[in-house]
Amino acid sequence: LDNGLALTPPMGWLAWERFRCNVDCKNDPQNCISESLFMEMAERMATQGYKEAGYEYVILDDCWMNKSRDEKGKLTADPERFPSGIKFLAKYVHSLGLKLGIYEDIGTLTCGGYPGIEGHEEEDMKTFAEWDIDYVKLDGCYMDAAEFGTAYPRVGQFMNKTGRSMVYSCSWPAYLIDSNETLPWKDLIQYCNLWRNYDDIQDSYDSFTNIAAWFAKKQDELIPVAGPGHWNDPDMLLVGNFGLSFEQQKAQMAIWAILAAPLIMSNDLRDIGHPYRRILLNREVIAINQDVLGIQGRQTASSRAKGIEIWTRPVTPTTTANGATVYSYAVVIWNKRDDGTPYPYAQPISSYGLTEKKGYFIRNLYTGQDYGLLQPNDVLPLKVVPSGVVMFKATPVVAIKTRSVQEDA
Ligand code: DGJ
Repeated sequence: LDNGLALTPPMGWLAWERFRCNVDCKNDPQNCISESLFMEMAERMATQGYKEAGYEYVILDDCWMNKSRDEKGKLTADPERFPSGIKFLAKYVHSLGLKLGIYEDIGTLTCGGYPGIEGHEEEDMKTFAEWDIDYVKLDGCYMDAAEFGTAYPRVGQFMNKTGRSMVYSCSWPAYLIDSNETLPWKDLIQYCNLWRNYDDIQDSYDSFTNIAAWFAKKQDELIPVAGPGHWNDPDMLLVGNFGLSFEQQKAQMAIWAILAAPLIMSNDLRDIGHPYRRILLNREVIAINQDVLGIQGRQTASSRAKGIEIWTRPVTPTTTANGATVYSYAVVIWNKRDDGTPYPYAQPISSYGLTEKKGYFIRNLYTGQDYGLLQPNDVLPLKVVPSGVVMFKATPVVAIKTRSVQEDA
């Protein structure tokens, strides 16, 4: 969607995966969907390094609403759980230098059974604009999928009409995965800033690997439709939660960076160990994700027998003195084996598609280790732990030379 927003994949925090539809504030006041939950998360985002690292949107998901609209048909937040109202929450979030996202559903009800926007599209978008909302996630329950093609663009038009800049996150294709229809990519690019493609992520390695496998299977269809202003969304980051090991969390962050995926955490920022926080705040991995070119990367090799997958993404091209464009690359080697020992993986770098004759400087993005300058036939000796990754960036020598010439000038 060409609205000047989401020029790189949106980054932020969303309640759903970790906090679900917990509305029991009496018995579980710390974890229920309430204004204090969002205020606390926003406060952590602003003060614990997340904001500086690029995380920007604090986003409500299902179950924030009152079960029915008010007498004028207007949406309202649950008065007990959000006593100060959403406009107040937006003001608070903005005062911290962050942005507020909200959740609604295109159909008659949200998936959790709260009022959907069908029949109220224009007034609800006006309400969101009045509340100073910056991001709308529009789910796809309780509407016949055949209607999405007109309904999602129509809501987008009302959003646009409000004059307020709001990122538009659509769930449209996620509800079409079982149909044989070809997806309406042109419309998605035109009308949405990002869209959920596939199943909801759950807190398990299985769920994460299934999503990654689906994105690999569909990559020839998905890669051309991603770019500045319009992104495929494989769903939230699980980093900091219960279901993934430390190494698996690094793997998710790495694969999401390759996929140019929105980096939307769903975790408890009040209770997150330092090593996990470091994964989320890894500037070099984030820089790959946020590369301005916005080219979604791909799985370039997957060997069942060896259990090793290679994923690569071109980033930051440099024009050389003779006018050629050379890319740097992010490369992830993912060990899907379960035979215990770190797996020795030593291949010439040309096997990753790194074929510039003058070679590349190679740097490990999780350990910070520099491997120095390698030519295409040079072997890079790695060890990849079970269910974990090695992620490195390869910067062509010609790019570094060009840069230092510019700096000298
Ligand atoms: C389905 C979506 O895909 C989830 O991300 C979440 O928003 C739930 N609905 C909420 O009911």
